[in-house]
Amino acid sequence: MLEVASEGIHVVNEQGVTVVYNKAASEFDGLLPEEVLGKHILDVFPSLTHDSSTLLRVLRNGVPEIAKQQTFTNYKGKKITTINSTYPITDGDKIIGACEISTDITRIKEMAERIADLRQELRIKECAEDTGGPRASAKISRKLFTVDDIVGQSAVMREVRRQVVQVARTQSNVLVWGETGTGKELVVQSIHSASERAGSAFVAQNCAALPEGLLEGLVFGTSKGGFTGAQDRPGLLELASGGTLYLDEIDSMPLGLQAKLLRVIQEKRVRRLGDVRERPVDVRIIGSTSVLPRQAVEQGLMRPDLYFRLAVVEIGLPPLRKRQEDIPLLCSHFLRKHGKGRNISISPEVMSAFLTYDWPGNVRELEHAIEGSLAFLRGNTIELVHIPPTVRGITATTTLSKGSIRNQLKSHEKAAIEEALRQGGSVSQAARILGIPRQTLQYRMKIHGLKAPRSRSRG
Ligand SMILES: Nc1ncnc2c1ncn2[C@@H]1O[C@H](COP(=O)(O)OP(=O)(O)OP(=O)(O)O)[C@@H](O)[C@H]1O
Ligand SMILES: [Mg+2]
Repeated sequence: MLEVASEGIHVVNEQGVTVVYNKAASEFDGLLPEEVLGKHILDVFPSLTHDSSTLLRVLRNGVPEIAKQQTFTNYKGKKITTINSTYPITDGDKIIGACEISTDITRIKEMAERIADLRQELRIKECAEDTGGPRASAKISRKLFTVDDIVGQSAVMREVRRQVVQVARTQSNVLVWGETGTGKELVVQSIHSASERAGSAFVAQNCAALPEGLLEGLVFGTSKGGFTGAQDRPGLLELASGGTLYLDEIDSMPLGLQAKLLRVIQEKRVRRLGDVRERPVDVRIIGSTSVLPRQAVEQGLMRPDLYFRLAVVEIGLPPLRKRQEDIPLLCSHFLRKHGKGRNISISPEVMSAFLTYDWPGNVRELEHAIEGSLAFLRGNTIELVHIPPTVRGITATTTLSKGSIRNQLKSHEKAAIEEALRQGGSVSQAARILGIPRQTLQYRMKIHGLKAPRSRSRG
């Protein structure tokens, strides 16, 4: 098991002598297992000391060191970035060894840096065109959503449009929340488009997508000499200066970074990692969460001070199942958007299935259902056969073939699991709600092709 794991695993005994050193670890370090096994750490890695070696430190202090990022040049001259967690191994009160588990994130890091560079290039081009005189107004920037793209006649959606227009006139930070696919990014882009910042950059970053160390460098920027291998690179805060920075899933941002972000908001200055200089930034920050923000605060996922700073204006987007009156309007909108000029209608059966289905993927799922059905369509009306089975299955019991009680049970079971996952937010919580063991739930989820809710854990 250790040999085939993609994580590097390195275990030392009480004396600091290596007892386990798997294949992945040997590849990261560029050493053969026999060069490491049975030897003391400091004999193998002469550049380390009792203090700088994480394994020796943990061996001495007994305190785990979790998710520490490290960039180093290995014995083969290859530059590698890993995320390491180091744990003491104990027998009762006695520390008898230490174990380090490393994940190679070199490729992720390279890609994140490439994206940062491309973003900067794009920004420089935009600025060049902006200052190229009054006629050079043709911008290369992609088209962003505006408030007219927010469809919905329900009272909440009307209120959302009103809030967007109103907040766009101010400089306030904003917090948007809603389940997946409810239109958070749509709303955030609309605020930017309607604001006086519309001519400047709109930069979006998902905070759950990257390991902590990378996210920090990406958001705040890095400076040469700060740490091994760092480049001078502006962070997203600088790239978005003059414009808007959208931090999606901001409750997944580690608390330390949240504190740092709060300081930037308050002082309007940013210091790149490893830099001494502070640079002024003028950026509107909009955050979003998929849970009620106050809940994120209560669960310790979001710092209360950052919450109060951002939630000057809080815009909540209810799930689609709670605003069914928007469905017909959204349908016409998506038929227009994806219908390529064809005049297409929706059969009453499909509309009634749409109105009873509970849309866990919200507006995005509805858009995909319509877009997908258009692909099968020969005539001009979307019928039940054209829409995804999940959407029609649960409601249209009358159309289930005879003797398919098995199918009915299956679809009810699936619906119950989906609901529990949504309510619980994690597999363990959902298992508790359903009153079954987590392993059983995981097995049933696999059968139904269901995925676990997006993880809230941090790398
Ligand atoms: N009220 C709406 N009117 C028109 N289109 C909408 C509306 N709400 C959402 N959409 C469309 O649904 C899709 C998903 O929206 P968006 O990306 O803004 O969701 P999100 O809340 O950011 O989702 P996630 O949390 O998964 O990132 C987009 O194509 C968007 O245009
Ligand atoms: Mg989004």
